[in-house]
Amino acid sequence: VQAGLIDPFGRKIDYLRVSVTDRCDLRCHYCLPKRFRDFSEPENWLTLDEQLQVIQAFSELGVKRVRLTGGEPLLRKNLTEFVHGIAALPLIEDISLSTNGTQLAKHAHALKAAGLHRLNISLDSLERRCMADITGSDSLPAVMAGIAAAQEAGFRQIKINMVALANLEISDYEKMVDYCFNQGLTLRMIETMPIGQTGQQTPYINLQSIQNQLVQRYQLEPAAQELGGGPARYWQTQDGKRFIGFITPISQHFCATCNRLRLSVEGNLHLCLGQNDRVPLRALIRQGLSLDELKDQLLNAIAKKPEKHDFTQQPHKIVRFMASTGG
Ligand code: GTP
Ligand code: 5AD
Ligand code: SF4
Repeated sequence: VQAGLIDPFGRKIDYLRVSVTDRCDLRCHYCLPKRFRDFSEPENWLTLDEQLQVIQAFSELGVKRVRLTGGEPLLRKNLTEFVHGIAALPLIEDISLSTNGTQLAKHAHALKAAGLHRLNISLDSLERRCMADITGSDSLPAVMAGIAAAQEAGFRQIKINMVALANLEISDYEKMVDYCFNQGLTLRMIETMPIGQTGQQTPYINLQSIQNQLVQRYQLEPAAQELGGGPARYWQTQDGKRFIGFITPISQHFCATCNRLRLSVEGNLHLCLGQNDRVPLRALIRQGLSLDELKDQLLNAIAKKPEKHDFTQQPHKIVRFMASTGG
């Protein structure tokens, strides 16, 4: 009998985030440096079959949720077939995707048919010019088309990710809440994290006061149900029909309930988003490990999971950029 995925701090790991590429078609200024060239080379990518082996091993150890991330995951070829392969693993209950939405209009229906359950879509502004400033190109029309296609495809859940940027006023948040409430989308607001060179140059805004203002304005109460497996804390409207989440790694961190690990496209298992600890798996996988041997390696890795992130240290120690682990 396997001991299961319990880390040294007694946390049960049941959620794996899998980054399928570190590339992206956008250049959000808080995430991916504009002149960044140092992307990983295709020969260093795990194949999707190799990533599937890791997911299978994890699922047999207790992982029930898999989230696909990037970079922009929809840039990876054959992603739909990959989702189909994950959906065929009997112990996986929840498959989700974090995307910038630009390619979603093309893929939404096929992803749903392949077995994808949930989608998180980045949308930092409803204004075309602001989106162009933030993302480095005129992306809003394509993202909006992506959201519409996702709504049509009938996913179990679609959430919008909005990063708390420095120049925003409360009215900008309210516009986004109104849009999401109207559309039946769950909005999450995210505090910026000092990850990578650009993340570290991004001003940090504490979301607590914005949260208080929105709770008052929309008469929100703490949500009665869970809306995913991640770190967001949710509120709901009084009729229980609309939800808002806050992701506050800095002002109110959530490491004590951490349930997840990250697999990078290069086959490194990152033990914490806000730490450098990682275990390289690619060479081991290419030696032709059996599934049981791979499971043993994963159990050894779990024993090294740090207690919490450390975003306070100066200079910041996380030099890899956000798109290399998919957030
Ligand atoms: P679900 O709750 O399953 O919908 O997913 P999620 O909210 O965890 O996933 P998503 O990819 O949409 O991430 C939203 C934000 O949360 C991103 O900015 C992530 O970097 C951040 N995030 C997710 N997991 C962690 C974590 O373990 N630590 C920290 N510090 N941030 C995280
Ligand atoms: N801080 C917080 N969130 C970030 N994201 C990207 N970079 C950062 C950062 N430095 C977000 C994206 C996306 C999610 C997966 O991660 O906006 O919604
Ligand atoms: Fe978990 Fe690390 Fe994220 Fe904290 S920063 S919630 S310990 S992965």
